[in-house]
Amino acid sequence: MQLETNSSQRTLDAVITQRIIESPYRRISFAEYMDLALYHPEYGYYASSATQIGAAGDFFTSCHLSADFGELLAEQFAQMWSLLQQPNPFTLVEMGAGQGLLAIDVLTALQRHHPDCFACLEYVIIERAAALIQAQQRQLRQFIEIGVVRWCDFADAPAVTGCWFSNELIDAFPVHQVVLETGQLKEVFVSVIQENSQTQFVEVVGDLSTPKLEEYFNLIGIDLRFVPRSQRESPPYPDGYRTEVNLAALDWMSTVANHLQRGYVLTIDYGYPSDRYYHPTRSTGTLQCYFQHQHHSDPYRNVGQQDITAHVDFTALEKQGKLCGLNRVGYTKQALFLMALGLGDRLTALGQSPATDAQSIQESLRQRDSLHNLINPLGLGDFGVLIQSKGVDSTVPLIGLMGEIVNTQKKRE
Ligand SMILES: C[S@@+](CC[C@H](N)C(=O)[O-])C[C@H]1O[C@@H](n2cnc3c(N)ncnc32)[C@H](O)[C@@H]1O
Repeated sequence: MQLETNSSQRTLDAVITQRIIESPYRRISFAEYMDLALYHPEYGYYASSATQIGAAGDFFTSCHLSADFGELLAEQFAQMWSLLQQPNPFTLVEMGAGQGLLAIDVLTALQRHHPDCFACLEYVIIERAAALIQAQQRQLRQFIEIGVVRWCDFADAPAVTGCWFSNELIDAFPVHQVVLETGQLKEVFVSVIQENSQTQFVEVVGDLSTPKLEEYFNLIGIDLRFVPRSQRESPPYPDGYRTEVNLAALDWMSTVANHLQRGYVLTIDYGYPSDRYYHPTRSTGTLQCYFQHQHHSDPYRNVGQQDITAHVDFTALEKQGKLCGLNRVGYTKQALFLMALGLGDRLTALGQSPATDAQSIQESLRQRDSLHNLINPLGLGDFGVLIQSKGVDSTVPLIGLMGEIVNTQKKRE
């Protein structure tokens, strides 16, 4: 955990060190550390790295691969608008919009292919990183000019009829880290040692900083202190078992539910249901760091220069949503979701392209590659898609969930 040195990193190290020194017991929770490393307004990863998402950056997301992702999502939104009886305004709230790529693809597709829906559309973006808001505003100029898009703070979010949606937002929330020590649930904190003008972040283990961490496990029905009674049950959690808890996701879910009058919440992210997330064999958790397309598990390296993420516990989102009045409409995988929305037809159309010149053939191969990457079961295709609703009593299934419904029936037969 020796700290590396470059000037903005040195400054962020100093900011975090100061925060630690001023804190009771000279330590901060890992969630607070991660929050500073990612979102410190001047030196945090997202503050300084507007251009570090994408092919030339540290990681890319589905919308960097191809416009098809946003275009297919637009199909789902258009159907939601119909199922909600074509409300005007119909509000899409995108939270954590990155560089605005998904927004531009969704808006362009709705304008082109669903003009009636587009005529009712209000597109609200909630973004924490000021540098990314600027990037989004550059990207969306044409839609700002016609008054379709606006930005607002989460605290001032409107109560809407429509859909709250996000892609890879929840994995970017700061997480607490917990560890099992001789059968007790403890928390991992970040402290600092300073020697010969060198600073080093060190982890220390202590009692839980908040009872919400225990309550989280009660909510999802997982007992890390569980002792199996027979060999047929899961193995016990080993001593030293370490994992993350995304309390921010629960708060987020409650706020979103409160700000939905009628409609849907659509969440796309990588993660698992609780029983897979907190399986005894996943004994080091899911925390990952991304730096120039390399991933590793040391959050104390490249501080402020690398992304830090943790997988999403979809069961927690569902259960918290239920407590806040949201119904679970369905949970599926990105591959099935996009196929149900028409990705397969797009692949077929590309295969039947009459193009014979080298450039068109190359472009068509590139597009096929991108579409395959969106549904790759070992990559983006394995992402979870959770849809929740409030005040919607339609019996018509959502198009994007049809693949999942067929699969469930097949399993039952
Ligand atoms: C991993 S990036 C994903 C960006 C984009 N959705 C995409 O798919 O390319 C996470 C995004 O969420 C934003 N974010 C994280 N926490 C946020 C919060 N509490 N409120 C608003 N935006 C947030 C980040 O600034 C960033 O734009």
